[in-house]
Amino acid sequence: MSVVRARAAAKINLHLGVGAVREDGYHELCTVYQAVSLFDRVAAEPWSTWRVETRTEPYVDRSAVPMTNGNIVTRAGALLAELHGVEQRGDLVVDKAIPVAGGLAGGSADAAATLVVLDKLWGLRTPLDQLIELAVQLGSDVPFALLGGTGHGAGRGEIVEAVLDPGEWWWVVVPQRQGLSTPAVYRHFDDMVPDAGAPASSDKVMAALDTGDPRELARALHNDLQRPVFDLRPDLRNLITLGESEGALRGMVSGSGPTCVFLCEDELHADTVADGLRYTGHVTALIATGPAPGPVAE
Ligand code: C5P
Repeated sequence: MSVVRARAAAKINLHLGVGAVREDGYHELCTVYQAVSLFDRVAAEPWSTWRVETRTEPYVDRSAVPMTNGNIVTRAGALLAELHGVEQRGDLVVDKAIPVAGGLAGGSADAAATLVVLDKLWGLRTPLDQLIELAVQLGSDVPFALLGGTGHGAGRGEIVEAVLDPGEWWWVVVPQRQGLSTPAVYRHFDDMVPDAGAPASSDKVMAALDTGDPRELARALHNDLQRPVFDLRPDLRNLITLGESEGALRGMVSGSGPTCVFLCEDELHADTVADGLRYTGHVTALIATGPAPGPVAE
């Protein structure tokens, strides 16, 4: 087998309820993730050492990709090799279309795709529950990235259960040139909400998903990190207002930002909203649909 490849989907948090900071420094979450069709691509070949080449779309801030061996994809590979007690290494090529430090979990998606790609390349057939254990060590949203689709996340986000999501949801995704640090956004949340209790329930979003009606989902979308993100990046408020005035059902910051996402009626509507944002806002506007599948090695 020469090259093994997989796609790595971005995620949007349809609901992000953030609770108080825990003793381990993480926040208790109640979240609903949806994987969407904005994909990085990971390809792997056998190699004697770790080598990672990262290629980026023009709107992705290349300087923000960690280029060292600390890169999350080599950490994923090293954990998988360690689990099986093998000495394998790999030559990895990561094509990034998901904005870096954008609140879309691109790095987490790459790590999840790397696990499945190397598992196939090395012929390991690791059971899913063991891959999930490795994913938990790599980051809070890597377990969801392995599963894809739509999922409910608890704990620090790593305890994931699949959610039945019969709808087809259309999003306009507006990346930003400059990313935001997730820890910095959470710290700002702590400053703004010092008395946070249990994270807000996701019941409304779960009920809206069942209806398959984008207007219902638009009403239910919720992100507790949006206020701290707006505080750090006041310009994003205007972007959300602009997208909604261009006809989006609802605009929202994705996860810890700064990417903004706009829910639309259908594909045609998403095209119209994206064109409006490009023309009036002079921004990059991408179209994505969810739920998208998790990584499959080919
Ligand atoms: O788990 P991950 O490495 O992706 O988290 C990155 C950072 O985001 C953490 O170090 C923490 O500062 C913050 N975080 C948090 N609560 C969570 C998830 C992430 O405070 N539930």
